[in-house]
Amino acid sequence: MTIVLGLETSCDESAVALVSREAGIFNVLSSKIASQVEEHARWGGVVPEIASRKHLEALPYLISDVLNDAELKIRNIDAIAATVAPGLVGALMVGSVTARTLAALHNLPFLGIHHLEGHLSSVFLSPKAPAPPYLVLLVSGGHTELIEVYEGSKYKRLARSHDDAAGEAFDKVARLLDLPYPGGPSIQEIGKEGNQSRFSLPKGRVSKPGGGFYPYDFSFSGLKTAMLRKIESFKSEGKGIPVQDLAASFENVVAEVLVERTVKCALDHGLERIVMVGGVAANLRLRKLMETRCREKSLNVYLAPKQFCTDNAAMVAAAALERLKLGVSASSFDLGVSPRWPLSDADSFYQAKPPF
Ligand code: KG4
Ligand code: ZN
Repeated sequence: MTIVLGLETSCDESAVALVSREAGIFNVLSSKIASQVEEHARWGGVVPEIASRKHLEALPYLISDVLNDAELKIRNIDAIAATVAPGLVGALMVGSVTARTLAALHNLPFLGIHHLEGHLSSVFLSPKAPAPPYLVLLVSGGHTELIEVYEGSKYKRLARSHDDAAGEAFDKVARLLDLPYPGGPSIQEIGKEGNQSRFSLPKGRVSKPGGGFYPYDFSFSGLKTAMLRKIESFKSEGKGIPVQDLAASFENVVAEVLVERTVKCALDHGLERIVMVGGVAANLRLRKLMETRCREKSLNVYLAPKQFCTDNAAMVAAAALERLKLGVSASSFDLGVSPRWPLSDADSFYQAKPPF
């Protein structure tokens, strides 16, 4: 059995987890998250300085909590992993320095993890994990991408959003509807009883420079503007805003677009397995639609467990366990952090000479 302690501090959630792997089975021994949402809410967005400070305060408690919870000591652990890119550099630095310090003190290997590889690895925490090759729809607050995953943690991006990420669209539309941050869960809750077919909304196609459209790419900024126009027209007519129906219609069109293009991309590329991960993958309407459409097309679908869709550290530990399985021994203690880094270059985190 291999046990990894994972740390995630790339944005506004301080998270620590212990995950084991035995005979290919991943087991979350403990996973704790200290959310900073309320700290940032009054500033209207994430304040990087506050995020770093809060991570620094929370990590020592979270680490001792997960060890107590799993009834383990540091000496029972095989490796320590932390997210090193992409994200807020100060926030990443807190997690990375904490992980490297603990690893050095206890003579353990340290593994730097790419945040998106963490999200992709969240599917390993479900009872049914896919075998590569497969197509991943990664939908979070910062990314909306279709990624082909091959054996050996190799990635190829097949599509992306040209403007807002899907989660960002949820957050912005929630603000227009006066719903609390984060927007995804707020819209899901209020839209539960709403009529999802009441408003017709644009599906955001991305034009190619020479004519035609990119078949799988996404654009959500036009949808956000369409929502704004509808809300304004209700306001100018002095009518009440039908928040439930607007939320349900918005959620429905986002789910339709994501599912349609993912299924088309999988079929066109001869991929039989579809995986869905990231914060927006927690959305119930989206999960249901993805399962239904995949069933209709005889595609196998693998959804990340709901509790591991939004940022957490169990996914970071799972990514490290997979890298260890593939023969990586450690990252250099000289590996720093980076605000941006392509997922396809995540291999470089394990080279003797680190890229940053
Ligand atoms: O993956 P994540 O925790 O952080 C990033 O790496 O970005 O994703 C956060 C995003 C937010 O935009 C949030 O509104 C969205 O995920 N989200 C949801 C739901 N839960 C979280 N969107 C739709 N439905 C949900 N249930
Ligand atoms: Zn994330």
